[in-house]
Amino acid sequence: MERTLVIVKPDAVQRGLVGEVIVRLERRGLRIVALKLIQMTARLAERHYAIHKGKPFYEGLVQYITSGPVVVMALEGARAIEVVRKTMGATNPAEAAPGTIRADFGLEIGRNLVHGSDGPDTAAFELALFFAEEEILGYSRDTDRWIFE
Ligand code: RTP
Ligand code: MG
Repeated sequence: MERTLVIVKPDAVQRGLVGEVIVRLERRGLRIVALKLIQMTARLAERHYAIHKGKPFYEGLVQYITSGPVVVMALEGARAIEVVRKTMGATNPAEAAPGTIRADFGLEIGRNLVHGSDGPDTAAFELALFFAEEEILGYSRDTDRWIFE
């Protein structure tokens, strides 16, 4: 089963939307296998967003993601990476489809509430960045047979 990393970004934490974001992902059937509230350091942010280094929005992005506590979680499920990205919506909330997290709660690209890994390699890299192996729990839920075929 696929795993992905989600970050509830500082704006969503400040706005009291942690529960809202988790509800939307959890009720799809995704299984939470790790979860914690952390303050990202500049060093961690630079590693997480290394791919964007040199882009005009990079400095602001690092500032934004380190501006307050974030909730990081590992989610598991069939096609979890794609399902999370679709539930979040397009990067720019102004262009995101109504019903997605970013469209329903956001307006601007630099305040887009959530992060989700964008592919299997990125997911593996990011999960290892935020969680020790023993922090990601392998378990099953009694409801799994009603959610997973
Ligand atoms: P994320 O990594 O946060 O899940 O978002 P994403 O894949 O949809 O977008 P990505 O291209 O990876 O960009 C990472 C974050 O950088 C900010 N950004 N600002 N001002 C800009 O043009 C711009 N472009 C990207 C956003 O906060 C985006 O989520
Ligand atoms: Mg991205």
